[in-house]
Amino acid sequence: MIYIRKAAQVVAVSGGTTAPKIRDDMRELNVIENGGVVVEGERIVFVGPDEEAEAYVKANRSQEEVTVINAEGKTVTPGLIDPHTHIVFAGSREFELGLRLQGATYMDILRAGGGILYSTEQTRKADEQQLMEETGKRLDRFLAHGVTTVEAKSGYGLRLEDELKQLRVARSLNRLHPVELVSTFMGAHAVPPEFKEAPEEFVRLIVEGMIPAVAEQGLAEYCDVFCEEGVFTPDQTRDILRAGMKFGLKPKVHADEIVHSGGAELAAELEAVSAEHLLQASEGGIRAMAEKGVIAVLLPGTAFYLMTTPADARKMIDAGVPVALSTDCNPGSSPTVSLPFIMNLACLTMRMTPEEALTACTINAAHAIGRAERIGSIEPGKQADIVIFDAPNYMFLQYHYAVNLTDTVIKKGIPVIAGGESQSIDPDAQRTACRQSMRFFFWP
Ligand code: NIG
Ligand code: FE
Repeated sequence: MIYIRKAAQVVAVSGGTTAPKIRDDMRELNVIENGGVVVEGERIVFVGPDEEAEAYVKANRSQEEVTVINAEGKTVTPGLIDPHTHIVFAGSREFELGLRLQGATYMDILRAGGGILYSTEQTRKADEQQLMEETGKRLDRFLAHGVTTVEAKSGYGLRLEDELKQLRVARSLNRLHPVELVSTFMGAHAVPPEFKEAPEEFVRLIVEGMIPAVAEQGLAEYCDVFCEEGVFTPDQTRDILRAGMKFGLKPKVHADEIVHSGGAELAAELEAVSAEHLLQASEGGIRAMAEKGVIAVLLPGTAFYLMTTPADARKMIDAGVPVALSTDCNPGSSPTVSLPFIMNLACLTMRMTPEEALTACTINAAHAIGRAERIGSIEPGKQADIVIFDAPNYMFLQYHYAVNLTDTVIKKGIPVIAGGESQSIDPDAQRTACRQSMRFFFWP
């Protein structure tokens, strides 16, 4: 049993399990001042005022030792969830920043065979062990920033064996690393050089070759397409996502990222789980998404890093679109793991409120990856994925920007990062499962 006691605030983010939070409900965090949380095994069993939590512990602690985590002066939130990453890749692209600062655009670099295609070359060359190590390090850093679940897209293989390789790496890491991974097949991330003159052939390969193999091996839950001028057209995107749906892969769309290409409208037409990026989404597209309940996964870090104007989050929230936030962690357009900094950017560059930002990185993000039944809020019965921030209240997370305030992280009931005071109140049992960590590690 773990008893998190006397937290300055427990930010439960409750009440959004059956449907994502929209409009004013995104600002409803259900904060408990001087709160306590009790965890038994992998589950949360109690959340409420600290006196009641303590009484619960006293009444129920007979069979188990109790690890007490003192959260005085600190803020407790659900484990943060990143619903859009491209973390399984090899190598890096730091030199692109210099090119962009000299005036090259992200798409210029891609058209010249760099960008995603450069990372594809590196990833094709890497074996699974190398990819495990490079990706595992990224997951360590995510965890150190309070992120306990990430979605992971393939898309740096762009041929069957290498797409499968990336997805197998995500599956292995999901078993071995405390951060949980949810896989998305994104073979339609770019057209590889060998199909440059015949992009329709590549679409056919995805539809007829890759999707059936990915589905048959149970390697992904979602299918995503980079629907963008010069990459995949809305018609190609529709064909790929429909093929995925036939095989049980739920649709997501990289939509309207660089120019308006009708991605938001298409996501609504297909009743996709989410449309992601949306910097150039049209009013009609936003309305259609609201009608169909398509979640907008917004990535203000990508706009920041590509030096462009971010998505119009306010318009989307006002229109009733459920909004989630993500790092977009990838080697080119957003090389970061700091979901807390993404919340800062959401507030400072998209004028989301601190309450909306936290909802967007917890329960709404859980909906974007189909996990809201299990994670995304601190409620009895849910999996104990919990972060303690060294912050006296949740607003402090957005006030003290670009600083990692993560103190303690609990994943599935196990403290995996422990910066705070942690002790046992059972005198016979001083053992704790806490692990100090900024290094690549696997489950005990
Ligand atoms: O979401 N837009 C497409 N994919 C990524 C970037 C991937 C890369 O540059 O390697 C994105 O921005
Ligand atoms: Fe992306």
